[in-house]
Amino acid sequence: MEPSRWYRDSVFYHIWPRSFFDGNGDGVGDLYGVYEKLDYIQALGCNGVWFSPLYPSPGRDCGYDVSNYRDIDPLFGGMAQFRRVLDAAHERGMRVIMDLVVNHTSDEHEWFQKSRRRIPPYTDYYIWRKSPFGRLPNNWDSQFEGKAWQWDELRREYYLHLFAVKQPDLNMDNPRVREEVKGILRFWLELGVDGFREDVITFISKKDGLPNDYFMPATRGLGHYNHGPRIHDYLREFREVLDDYDAFTVGEAPLLGARRALDYVDEKRGQLNAVIQSEVMNADCFLTDYVPTPFSARRLKRVFDSWQRTLDGKGWNVLYYENHDHPRVLSRYGSEKYHAASGKMLAASYLFQKGTPFIYQGQEIGMTNWRPKNAADYEDVQTRWHYRNQLSFLLPPSVRLKWCHRASRDSARTPMQWSGAPNAGFTTGVPWFHVNENYRRINVAAQENDPDSILNFYRAAVALRRRLPLVRDGSYTDHDPLSGSLYVYSRALGAERLLVVCSFVERPVRFRAPSGFDLARGALLLKNYDGALDGNGFVTKPYECRVYYFT
Ligand code: GLC
Repeated sequence: MEPSRWYRDSVFYHIWPRSFFDGNGDGVGDLYGVYEKLDYIQALGCNGVWFSPLYPSPGRDCGYDVSNYRDIDPLFGGMAQFRRVLDAAHERGMRVIMDLVVNHTSDEHEWFQKSRRRIPPYTDYYIWRKSPFGRLPNNWDSQFEGKAWQWDELRREYYLHLFAVKQPDLNMDNPRVREEVKGILRFWLELGVDGFREDVITFISKKDGLPNDYFMPATRGLGHYNHGPRIHDYLREFREVLDDYDAFTVGEAPLLGARRALDYVDEKRGQLNAVIQSEVMNADCFLTDYVPTPFSARRLKRVFDSWQRTLDGKGWNVLYYENHDHPRVLSRYGSEKYHAASGKMLAASYLFQKGTPFIYQGQEIGMTNWRPKNAADYEDVQTRWHYRNQLSFLLPPSVRLKWCHRASRDSARTPMQWSGAPNAGFTTGVPWFHVNENYRRINVAAQENDPDSILNFYRAAVALRRRLPLVRDGSYTDHDPLSGSLYVYSRALGAERLLVVCSFVERPVRFRAPSGFDLARGALLLKNYDGALDGNGFVTKPYECRVYYFT
């Protein structure tokens, strides 16, 4: 089937289910809650939803440890409620994509339990190795919990886990495992879902022989499994199923530059439709949130520019700032002091680029980082590990805690702030996780009817984006790549042009329109301050943004 590429007209809302909205009062977000909030998502202008995992799971990694791929966890309302949500979304013209987590399963998955016992055909579903004298099979590190190997007493072998100990890696080189993956894809596509976000998909093919890694100083092994030898064959194999259904696939691709991304997203190669790259979230850290550096607008713009230009006409971009794996963007690239202004500016800085935008729950009201007083309040397996083991033991606990404040994924996982009611209106019960205490100030209800809120800015920006074909199809130009404070980009299609001016700083900066743009003749369609022109430009206010339209 010739793909229709419907996702080019989509704006996705990303739901991390357990913290979105609790519809049955048990303290955990669920699909009853999602059902009630579909109108809210639609009013934001989104016509797509990505669900982080809803499958049954012991929850060691909040659902990214799947114990059954063909069901919905009763915690979220089970399969019947999922169908109701899916139908209701489709009635509203919204597409639904699921998280496909097949680099690993939970150790409680039936496959793993049988594999441990060498029960055919599951014996080689995972990556098992013997190793003499108590030595580990190789020197690889896991991303979450120490070394990447765990001894299994029952099978008397080690298994590989690139993430938590309870997340054994599947052996994708086993054709039966790939058949299972295709079966899972078909199962959900037959049910009516519209595509998949594929979890750490670039990790699924490991280098033959699983050699030691002597190059990486940390996370050893990465070079031997990220973009491994058979990754493209496997993705092509999966694509054959996906193409029968016109499905959208977006692969999570850590540590991937734009040029190499073409190996995955070049439309001629037909593997993934887009990737979620991590570079965009590296403008204030070195490769991981746990190695912080000062924020650099220039670095961020270089990333934007490289992805916009390299993929143009060949592949397709996903545009995002936030998801469940990173602290809140407003606290990182914006300013909590200039909350409303910087929240809106960040929206303008990415929503008009070329690609399919994703908005993560709470981003649209400018939710900020969560800073618990106690390290024990953290839930996330990665944060706990870093606090206990990775951040130098020589540092006092208060410093390590501050570090987690800056880097922890839990900042994105506190319950959605719906109102100033107890528990931010997220649940009538006892919330499964801490609510950010700023909820009385930052919440949906407060922003709903305020025309100057971040929420209403997002609504206007998304509506504008969907109304103007030039945002989907036009060319992209960064007009001032060297500026460390302003991001000035334009989009053009035929006689139409859009000029977006964003200040990433508090101090005033003199902005002059690029040549060919006469601001007095443009329509100022979006702004976060009232301000006049000063010649063919203006002096910016803190985190100011303006969007001009020219015909
Ligand atoms: C991806 C997910 C993350 C999860 C990890 C292991 O990076 O986004 O939340 O912990 O994979 O599945």
